[in-house]
Amino acid sequence: MCGIVGYIGKKQAYPVLIKGLERLEYRGYDSAGVALLENGAFSVYKKKGKVAELSKFVKNKNIKNFSGGVGIAHTRWATHGIPSDRNAHPHLSNNGDIVIVHNGIIENYLSIKKVLLKKNYKFKSDTDTEVLANLIEDIKNNAKVSIDEAVRLALLQVTGAYAILVLSKDEPNTMVVAKIGSPAVVGIGKGEFFVASDATPIVEHTKKVVYLEDREIAIIKNGKLRIKTIDNKIKNLYVQKLETKIEELEKNGFPHFMLKEIFEQPESLRNTMRGRILVDKGGIKFGGLEKFGKELRSLKSLTITAMGTARFTGLVGEYAFEELAKIPTKVEYSSEFAYRDASVDINTGFIAISQSGETADTLNAVKEAKRKNMLTLGVVNVIGSSIARAVDAGIYNHAGPETAVASTKASTSQVLILIMLAVYLGRMRDLSKAKAQEILKEMQRLPNLAEKILKNANEIKKLAKKYSKNNNFFFLGRKYNAGAAMEGALKLKECSYIHAEGINATELKHGPLSLIDKNFPSLVIAPNDSMYEKSKTGIQEIKARGGRVIAVATEGNREIKTIADDVIYIPKTLEILTPILAFIPMQLFAYYIAVERGNDVDKPRNLAKSVTVE
Ligand code: G6P
Repeated sequence: MCGIVGYIGKKQAYPVLIKGLERLEYRGYDSAGVALLENGAFSVYKKKGKVAELSKFVKNKNIKNFSGGVGIAHTRWATHGIPSDRNAHPHLSNNGDIVIVHNGIIENYLSIKKVLLKKNYKFKSDTDTEVLANLIEDIKNNAKVSIDEAVRLALLQVTGAYAILVLSKDEPNTMVVAKIGSPAVVGIGKGEFFVASDATPIVEHTKKVVYLEDREIAIIKNGKLRIKTIDNKIKNLYVQKLETKIEELEKNGFPHFMLKEIFEQPESLRNTMRGRILVDKGGIKFGGLEKFGKELRSLKSLTITAMGTARFTGLVGEYAFEELAKIPTKVEYSSEFAYRDASVDINTGFIAISQSGETADTLNAVKEAKRKNMLTLGVVNVIGSSIARAVDAGIYNHAGPETAVASTKASTSQVLILIMLAVYLGRMRDLSKAKAQEILKEMQRLPNLAEKILKNANEIKKLAKKYSKNNNFFFLGRKYNAGAAMEGALKLKECSYIHAEGINATELKHGPLSLIDKNFPSLVIAPNDSMYEKSKTGIQEIKARGGRVIAVATEGNREIKTIADDVIYIPKTLEILTPILAFIPMQLFAYYIAVERGNDVDKPRNLAKSVTVE
């Protein structure tokens, strides 16, 4: 949700910043901008639309050489003020001394603005960001302090969640970064520094990074990095090494990141399991959980919180925890858990699921769970992210960087981790070695089974073409595949803008059936499992009302061909693992429909991958 990038060093800042914005575009893409400190003044270029629009705009200006080795940049997901050139970041303060980019929300910006208006400050945009730029200018001029001190004093007045990057033209060798809630990473190069919302723009320049903690300010001054808190306490630098490889951030010949990431699933599933499956012992190794054996053994119930796709994978996990570990589990929206008086006790374990590890709602839920003294566990893909750092213990997905806004490989990895965790907790309780071994062995086949599904991508493409003109869709499933159906519907909505509802198939007859007609098709997940007969009845009910049905069924099931209009086959596997396989054709279906409809698949309208505002 908004991406910020900064560079200070000997290179030309502009190309570094534009490349960085492209890497961060998944965070928001309604407008973009760059500010460069050149010859003692700021040159600001900003444009409504994607980063490509900004590049085109700057190119048309025919600037031969950017002299600045200092600059900041931004790609926006609007919160305050419509997407426009005017509201795009960076924002200058009134006298042009200070420039700022900002991710997040300044909650009390209106009251600060009121005070500044009385002091005759003028505002060119509708943003909360410009208010902060002017507040910093006001403090800097009145208190006669350095830019880093002015930022610190300003932040003492501010409430909200944010990450900001600030430059002052009077101090050309200084860059100031600060954060509460939203993420910020500083990359340390040779005589140069990079700042970004996550490490992806930094990887190609340096592997040495410092992740800022909440209420920290990083001051890069005269080639040195210092960190202090907003309350003026000096902090030690904790330098970490990045593991991400640059190839993982490129499309590698695929037309879209989403398709590349769908096709990476055999590998991402392998990586999720690598070194963790102990078939002989019927066990799982999760390094991050080892210290918490006693606490994990005494858990009596579980609360899973997540948003979007991650919540749907949680719904699959709920069934797995109850079946394999016999632990009563519930799944909630992180945003609700954070604000309602959830009734938990010391033996209720808390699991946050998040691909990005930055979703503000989920991070708030973690904080609330910690306040309630719960043992907090994270299932997170992005290493070093805020949620990964906030929880007591965690399991990384190791699915690799996911760039397309619609989550694919991270989601199948999440389901897999949750089932692995259910086996892990189950083995601490009643789950037999034999049953665990059966599941683990079958898990290890999943990458090959996923490959098999991907080989049929062209069939799904044809089907997508056939159904691409419909404006409504149901996705239906039972038990383990109820959550999968919800995820299938979300994928279609996100990418194709088709209205799609994912519901537990049993609910159909309690209302939704009234919507069915020949123009309202349904995708029914109906593998040969304990719910197959019930799913078949659901399909018949839809057919009896003139609705069309695509069934996702188990290979070899000929009968289903005589009932459903179209069938997508997935390989046979254990019931508990079917959702992982069912996700894949639904991802392809959503992808190909979106391409057919001419949508920008990787960056669907109105969305952002990492939602760092509430
Ligand atoms: C946003 C995205 C969804 C994503 C959700 C949770 O809403 O558009 O695709 O599933 O955030 O993201 P997380 O990073 O916490 O998994």
